[in-house]
Amino acid sequence: MTNAQFKRRVFSGIKPSGGLTMGNYLGAIKRFVEMQNADTESIYCVVDMHAITVWQDPADLRHATRELVAAYIASGIDPETSILFNQSQVSAHAELGWIFNCVARVGWMNRMTQFKDKAGKNTEQVSLGLYAYPSLMAADILIYHATHVPVGEDQKQHVELTRDIAAKFNHDYKVDFFPQPEPIIEGPATRIMNLRDGTKKMSKSGASDMERINMTDDAALIAKKFKKAKSDQEPLPETVAGLKDRPEAKNLVEIYAALSDTSPEAVIKEFAGAQWGRFKPELADLAVSKLEPISQEMSRLMQDPAEIDRILAKGADKANAIAQPILDKAYDIVGFIRR
Ligand code: TYM
Repeated sequence: MTNAQFKRRVFSGIKPSGGLTMGNYLGAIKRFVEMQNADTESIYCVVDMHAITVWQDPADLRHATRELVAAYIASGIDPETSILFNQSQVSAHAELGWIFNCVARVGWMNRMTQFKDKAGKNTEQVSLGLYAYPSLMAADILIYHATHVPVGEDQKQHVELTRDIAAKFNHDYKVDFFPQPEPIIEGPATRIMNLRDGTKKMSKSGASDMERINMTDDAALIAKKFKKAKSDQEPLPETVAGLKDRPEAKNLVEIYAALSDTSPEAVIKEFAGAQWGRFKPELADLAVSKLEPISQEMSRLMQDPAEIDRILAKGADKANAIAQPILDKAYDIVGFIRR
């Protein structure tokens, strides 16, 4: 099947679990802003139902949800141009998620590397929701018939699973109802690594705060973290190929490229042969100049939580207007009697 009958529609989401990192910003939010335009419907979600797959203190969850909305807006998502809302206010996500729990196979879930990483040896003790998470994620995307899903590299497998779920639903019910959404994984920042270990992803949940840049870090802390970031003994190479087998150097170059809207090639051209003593302070200054205005605007927006809640409610109404008819149709296809 093709997507020809579906209009272009962008969907993506971020979990409000703990603080946001520069990885979320460069790998996701910044790219959402770039994909936002008046001709394409873009839908950006705060996936609070995904967040509770691991324990969240309720007050912290409310705070993280509002802070993520503030980050979206401070980074340039316009709630008038895009649809911005939190998942739990549009119940069609959970309802389609249940149908997909009955379409997806246990064997498919068993192959999800993120579940294996998160559960570790603890597979008996983690929540059932953590295991079923990818089928809710498929519902997030397909409840809007979304065709394009900008994400970081770590979500690729989940978007591929979404395609498998869509195909199996269409096949089992002999319909051409769900599109095949495309993961959009582009630019130099699809996988920002941890500042202390270039082989591990930068994440909200890493053990040490020094391994990540948080969107709420101030200028002094950002500078300190880059100064202490792990690098290696060699100066920057003459070509991008010279970054091979140098994970920390590669990561710092990619961060610079993403922050400056260029490419690793352009960064290497500018800094070929430079020592870390020159590159790191320049990287820190660049990061501060890009991130500080966002974090300041986030703090300003967070002073008016009622306004954030109004934006979410309005966004949820708009999201629901798209989702509900698609859910109704899915219910008809499945054979559920509706009033
Ligand atoms: P989450 O909340 O872990 O991450 C949100 C987005 O940020 C990207 N990202 C990164 N990109 C580059 N480098 C990094 N170090 C880095 N860390 C995170 C992620 O790839 C993601 O795009 N399951 C999803 C949320 C979700 C979703 C969806 C996404 C739920 N439903 C539907 C797209 C469509 C997640 O946990 O992302």
